Amino acid sequence: MQVIICQEPGVLAFKEQERPEVKEGYAQIRIKRIGICGTDLHAFDGTQPYFNYPRILGHELSGELLETGGAQGFKKGDVVTFIPYFNCGVCIACRSEKPNCCTEIKVCGVHIDGGMVEYLNVPAYSLVQGEGLTYDELALVEPLAIGAHSIRRADVKAGEFVLVIGAGPIGLGIMEFARIAGAKVIAMDINASRLKFCSNRLNIDYTIDVSTENVLERLSMITQRDMPSVVIDATGNLKAINEGFRYLAHGARYILVGLQKGDISLSHPEFHKREATLMSSRNATREDFQHVISSMKKGLVQPANYITHRVPFKRVKDEFEKWLDPTSGVIKAMIEI
Ligand SMILES: NC(=O)c1ccc[n+]([C@@H]2O[C@H](COP(=O)([O-])OP(=O)(O)OC[C@H]3O[C@@H](n4cnc5c(N)ncnc54)[C@H](O)[C@@H]3O)[C@@H](O)[C@H]2O)c1
Ligand SMILES: [Zn+2]
Ligand SMILES: [Zn+2]
Repeated sequence: MQVIICQEPGVLAFKEQERPEVKEGYAQIRIKRIGICGTDLHAFDGTQPYFNYPRILGHELSGELLETGGAQGFKKGDVVTFIPYFNCGVCIACRSEKPNCCTEIKVCGVHIDGGMVEYLNVPAYSLVQGEGLTYDELALVEPLAIGAHSIRRADVKAGEFVLVIGAGPIGLGIMEFARIAGAKVIAMDINASRLKFCSNRLNIDYTIDVSTENVLERLSMITQRDMPSVVIDATGNLKAINEGFRYLAHGARYILVGLQKGDISLSHPEFHKREATLMSSRNATREDFQHVISSMKKGLVQPANYITHRVPFKRVKDEFEKWLDPTSGVIKAMIEI
């Protein structure tokens, strides 16, 4: 079978490899769609921390089930996606129903080879039934589940003001699931065209451009001086994360979805007087995947809003580098195979 390997930063190569043998406990999927996310672009760029090469990228996947591996409720020919965070099943996180932060986690396409292949073996327990959805929709479930997970972590209630900082693909998913939870959503970014996208395409109630507006004033005005009771970072930018503490309402929750390498700093008295809660949100669980799927089935999330670029498997090498350029306007590039 044909595979695309990231040999080293900046180098993608086509290779012919043996189709994997079917192993006990593993399902085999004929891959149909591969969504490209920031992690793949950073891995290609050489800026993804703790990344080893060579590596086959790709973790936003959908396809046709060729072997079920004994998974209950599945048959050959089913349209499927899967949860690409393979977990150990025995560590404290796994025992606490938090496989998304397993101490031994292996993310497909990050820690182990991923989905830029024609046939992929995945643990049978990771399969997710996709009946009634298209391959495009199914390949979007994983990135959207990241957003759904953060909204569940924050326990967002209808009518709350939720501020989402960062309107990249991850932030957009967070906004969608905040809106679905009935929140009043405020999108914040330094990129005016991304903010325009939020209001025009995702029907987000309020947008704030950090580079041109007085953020504290706008937030105070929008929330009638309460400030947002939920703030979610989806920038992965240290400065933005530190600033985010200033936007919290008294009693608010601050959820970090974005990730960076530095140390966070905050004013302890300001944090204390608010009795604020700080949480991280990592990956997603089956419950989040199911929530995304049912929201798609109800028409609450429109995949067409996300897929800005589409390319056949054979042409990935020619196109990949262009998606690193912010002016390409890429939100989600989808590889068809
Ligand atoms: N929690 C998880 O499991 C998980 C999964 C995937 C990605 N992530 C992380 O989520 C983050 C976002 O991912 P993405 O793919 O959407 O990234 P992205 O780079 O496409 O989007 C980030 C957005 O933040 C904006 N931004 C940057 N600095 C800002 C600032 N100071 N103020 C306001 N906005 C600012 C950028 O303009 C951009 O629109 C990354 O840190 C990524 O590592 C986390
Ligand atoms: Zn991803
Ligand atoms: Zn574990």
